[in-house]
Amino acid sequence: MTRIISTHSFRGGTGKSNVTANIATLLAKQGNRVGVFDGDIQSPGIHVIFGLNDTSIGYTLNDYLWGNCKIGDAAHEVFSDDTSDGAVFLVPSSIKPNDIARILREKYDANDMHNAFRDLVSVLSLDYLLIDTHPGLNEETLLSVAISDALIIILRPDQQDFQGTSVTVDIARRLRVPEIHLVINKTPPKYDFDDVRRKVESAYDADVVALLPLSLDVAQNASAQVFCLDNPDHSFTQGVEKIVAAISAEIPVPA
Ligand SMILES: Nc1ncnc2c1ncn2[C@@H]1O[C@H](COP(=O)(O)OP(=O)(O)O)[C@@H](O)[C@H]1O
Ligand SMILES: [Mg+2]
Repeated sequence: MTRIISTHSFRGGTGKSNVTANIATLLAKQGNRVGVFDGDIQSPGIHVIFGLNDTSIGYTLNDYLWGNCKIGDAAHEVFSDDTSDGAVFLVPSSIKPNDIARILREKYDANDMHNAFRDLVSVLSLDYLLIDTHPGLNEETLLSVAISDALIIILRPDQQDFQGTSVTVDIARRLRVPEIHLVINKTPPKYDFDDVRRKVESAYDADVVALLPLSLDVAQNASAQVFCLDNPDHSFTQGVEKIVAAISAEIPVPA
């Protein structure tokens, strides 16, 4: 069974795209076939981390939604592991200003997006489908969250993020998402990590699966590549490994 996982944050800049790209790559290194959708059609970005630029990007999610291509044509292999059959296939959103304006103006049929997820899973025999959503709440985000087996909510230890996260957690519970995993990113090294974890877990009654440090190394990587590849022992990578362990854990079947 393919696991569908959405990554969300109420506010932008939490590290959602970088964390998603790293999760996808670590899953692929374990031998999984992983699809990644750039569901942030208003402000796409994850393609950059995987090394696609506006000339190499080819067909996009926009083309699929406009009927210009099949979903498989819009999926680009951006990583493959030499020692396993694992790979990451990215469906990018268009970065062309006219395309972004058109999709926002004309909207699209939510069923088409749903079909895109379903078809990609079967065409590429995916083990995981990750959806990097737009921050805040909009139609695409609600659709992605509603069909997900697990939702990763990323927040910074910041009062504005804390308030926004309670909105997302509330919506996810109403949509009956089976698993909610909180990830705290950009945690200043001077903070007491256990204390931050305890406060967040008691505020939302959900598990914090990883606390990722605010890291100069990650900032200096500047989304130029998937950080974990060249930094396998870094504390940021170790944090992402914990997220991977949480989302790939066998879910106990209720007695
Ligand atoms: N743990 C971290 N420490 C330092 N910088 C980070 C960290 N995580 C992400 N960043 C940086 O924050 C910025 C926003 O990250 P991005 O993944 O694009 O966020 P989002 O998708 O939530 O908008 C990027 O410049 C990225 O390099
Ligand atoms: Mg992003």
